Amino acid sequence: MYVCLCNPFSDRQVREHLEKKSGAARVADVYHACSGGEKPNCCSCMKTLKEIVKSHNNTVAA
Ligand code: FES
Repeated sequence: MYVCLCNPFSDRQVREHLEKKSGAARVADVYHACSGGEKPNCCSCMKTLKEIVKSHNNTVAA
């Protein structure tokens, strides 16, 4: 499923990026990495992206 349509990337790409990280992640860093360095445009993907990153961070903090 696509997370961001403005600078297209999928939830799979987000999860693959997060799997490479050992600690907590920042939403802005994840967006930057998955979008190829682009900035958010409409930001309608942020809610979904935040949920995925929050879930990751809760997992690594546990
Ligand atoms: S859908 Fe991600 S910035 Fe627009």
